[in-house]
Amino acid sequence: MAACSSLLFSLLLIFTLSDLSVEVHGLGVGINYGQIANNLPSPTRVSYLLRSLNISRVKLYDADPNVLVPFSNTNVDFIIGLGNEYLQNMTDPIKAQNWVQQRVQPYLTRTRITCITVGNEVFKYNDHQQWSNLLPAMQTVYNTLVNLGLDKQVSVTTAHSLDILDVSFPPSAGAFRQDLGEYLHGILNFHAQVKSPFLINAYPYFAYKDNPNGVSLDYVLFQPNQGTMDPSTNLKYDNMLYAQVDAVYYAIKGMGHTDIEVRVSETGWPSKGDENEVGATPENAGLYNGNLLKRIEQRQGTPAKPNIPIDIYVFALFNENLKPGPASERNYGLFYPDGTPVYSIGVQGYLPELVYSSASKNNGFLVCSLLILAMAYFIFF
Ligand SMILES: *[C@@H]1O[C@H](CO)[C@@H](O)[C@H](O)[C@H]1NC(C)=O
Ligand SMILES: *[C@@H]1O[C@H](CO)[C@@H](O)[C@H](O)[C@H]1NC(C)=O
Repeated sequence: MAACSSLLFSLLLIFTLSDLSVEVHGLGVGINYGQIANNLPSPTRVSYLLRSLNISRVKLYDADPNVLVPFSNTNVDFIIGLGNEYLQNMTDPIKAQNWVQQRVQPYLTRTRITCITVGNEVFKYNDHQQWSNLLPAMQTVYNTLVNLGLDKQVSVTTAHSLDILDVSFPPSAGAFRQDLGEYLHGILNFHAQVKSPFLINAYPYFAYKDNPNGVSLDYVLFQPNQGTMDPSTNLKYDNMLYAQVDAVYYAIKGMGHTDIEVRVSETGWPSKGDENEVGATPENAGLYNGNLLKRIEQRQGTPAKPNIPIDIYVFALFNENLKPGPASERNYGLFYPDGTPVYSIGVQGYLPELVYSSASKNNGFLVCSLLILAMAYFIFF
């Protein structure tokens, strides 16, 4: 399989490079590979798509071996996830150890797993038992990694929605919600102790959608605009995402920590929405993600942390047709499931069509043939 795959990849590469209209530079961007859909291409095909895009950082919401195995011996770094439904169990050292030994350790030698997110947006939901479980679950998973000698390789964190902020503007006034104080205090101490990043899922789109007359579209889309000034710091913000990241930095500082890095585990813009979801268009999504990519390539920092390049995972790789909620939820993808781009963001990729013989697959010997080379071009700018 490996020989066949790499031959195929080489052929694709020759084919594609000869036809590149614009050079693709290494994107420091990461991507969320959500799979709440019944029509997505196989992870093997996805691995080619990501390679063609030069994306080498992927975030999963689970630890699906059907993804981790096909990415064996690639240079892709994975963040894997423990869903909120695991939190209770992960406070139990035996169960945490079983999970790490069964779902992480076997894949570590071939697939680069660098981080585990324990829970996602736990404080967004009003389940206080889960709030209480979060830190013990993170600690228990971390302790398991220590016991297995894996803590240098794999870090432990969780991802928050911006609902954890009480005040987010101006950034220097950033403050966490009072009712989360006792929980976040311990979580911040944990991050400082184990040196893991504080992750936020930040969507300027929500702010725009909720108040399209009051929020400047150019400001949220990283387009040229007047920007806003933080009166206490005199720092100028030309986009909302950076203001949100800095508000979190200031909120963390307000709780006594200056040693924790803030990273963006999700951001994105939907290309389509319900009638009341203002701004969800392919044009806006293309501008948001395209402009964001340029800033990531420039390794920009935020105004408050100019020397720390923003670290961002875009949401998401594919449109996910089974996501519940408003139409926008199913339309965050950069790609349709067939590998064609939803809109142009200035990079091009391809999703090869592979046909497997199921009989030979069972033998562990894979016969693959190239049927169609679905070249998906996004032409820049
Ligand atoms: C991919 O990214 C790496 C660095 O991240 C860069 O050296 C390389 O040239 C890029 N390849 C292409 C085809 O853009
Ligand atoms: C939690 O542990 C219980 C008992 O071992 C098990 O039945 C259950 O499936 C576990 N929950 C999850 C989400 O794995």
